[in-house]
Amino acid sequence: MLQKISKDQDNFLSVWKTLASKVDTHLSNCLQQQEGMPVRLLEAMRYSVLAPGKRLRPVLVLLASNAFGFENTNPWPAACAVEFIHAYSLIHDDLPAMDDDDLRRGRPTCHKVYGEALAILAGDALLTKAFEVLAKSYPPLAGAECCLELAKGAGASGMVGGQVEDLAWEGKPGVRGEDHPKEATIQHLKNLHDRKTGALIRTSLKLGAIVSFASQNRTPPEDLLQILDNYGQNIGLAFQVTDDLLDVLGKCESAGKRVGKDAQKGKLTYPGLLGIEQSKLLAVDLCKNAQNLASQLGPNAAPLIDLAEYLVSRDH
Ligand code: IPE
Ligand code: IPE
Ligand code: MG
Ligand code: MG
Ligand code: MG
Repeated sequence: MLQKISKDQDNFLSVWKTLASKVDTHLSNCLQQQEGMPVRLLEAMRYSVLAPGKRLRPVLVLLASNAFGFENTNPWPAACAVEFIHAYSLIHDDLPAMDDDDLRRGRPTCHKVYGEALAILAGDALLTKAFEVLAKSYPPLAGAECCLELAKGAGASGMVGGQVEDLAWEGKPGVRGEDHPKEATIQHLKNLHDRKTGALIRTSLKLGAIVSFASQNRTPPEDLLQILDNYGQNIGLAFQVTDDLLDVLGKCESAGKRVGKDAQKGKLTYPGLLGIEQSKLLAVDLCKNAQNLASQLGPNAAPLIDLAEYLVSRDH
C-alpha cells in the first residue's frame, strides 16, 4: 500500500501530507467512545491528538515499514501508538509544572481548555492507549516486541528520562539530584536531546521494521536495524537542534507554539551552548549523515532521505 510512495510522487511534502492525513483518520478511529470512558476525557484526548501536528513519528513508522517492501504490512496501529505517546508527552510538557505553555499546534494547550487535572489524566490515558493498540493489533510476538521497544523508548531511560534531564538543567526545584553536574558540556546536551526527542524517533523507526518483518513471520535482521537506528539517532538530534533554533529564530504563527521561551527559562539548548551558526551547521551535518545511512537501505527507503532534508529546513 505504501509501496508506491517513492515512485509515484516526486514532491516529498505532498507524500507527507497524504500520509499524515491517513494517519489522522486512523488516530480518530482509534479514539472512540468505549464503555466506562468519561465523555470529557475522550474529548480532551481527541482535542490534543487530532490537533494539527506534523505526524513525524507515525510517518517514520510508515516510511521505515515501507523501506522493506513487504506488501501486506499493517503499520497503522504502530503509527497511532507512537503518536499517542507523543501527544501525551506534549500535554504533560506544556503543564505549568513543566514548560508552562499556553499554545500548542496553534491552539490553547490541553490544560488551558480542560484544566490541569483532566490534562494530566488525558495524557495518562493516551500513554496506556498506545500499548492497548499495539497489544490488540499484532500477533502476540510482534505485539510484545513493539510494546517492549515502545516502553524502552518512551520510558525512564528514554523520553521521560530526557524530560527529567531537561528540567534538571533548567534548575526546576526538586528535579536535580545532589550528584548532578553543575556545568553543562556538549556531551550532556547531546545526551539530553538523544533521550527527550531522539528516543521516540528511533523507536518509531524500529516499530516500522518490526511490523514489516512480522508480516513475513520474521524479525528484522540486526544489520538493517543498526542502520535504521543510526539514521534515527542523526535525524533525532537534527530534529531537536532545529526545534531549539526555531525557538530562537522562528515565528509563533508558523510554529504554532510560543517562541523565545527556552532562553527565558534557562533551558539547555544547542543555540544557547553552541551559538546559532554552529547549531545550523550541526543540523546540516547530521542531516547528511542520516541521508548516507538511508541510502544504504535501498530504493524503497528513498523517502527517508527526503525526510532528513525536510527536518532541518522546516519552519514549524
Ligand atoms: C514537538 O514535537 C516536541 C519536540 C519533541 C521537539 P513536534 O515538532 O513533532 O510537534 P508536532 O507533533 O508537530 O506538534
Ligand atoms: C519536548 O521538548 C519534548 C517532549 C515533549 C518529549 P520541548 O519542550 O523543546 O518541545 P516544545 O518546544 O515545547 O514543543
Ligand atoms: Mg520541554
Ligand atoms: Mg516545551
Ligand atoms: Mg522546544
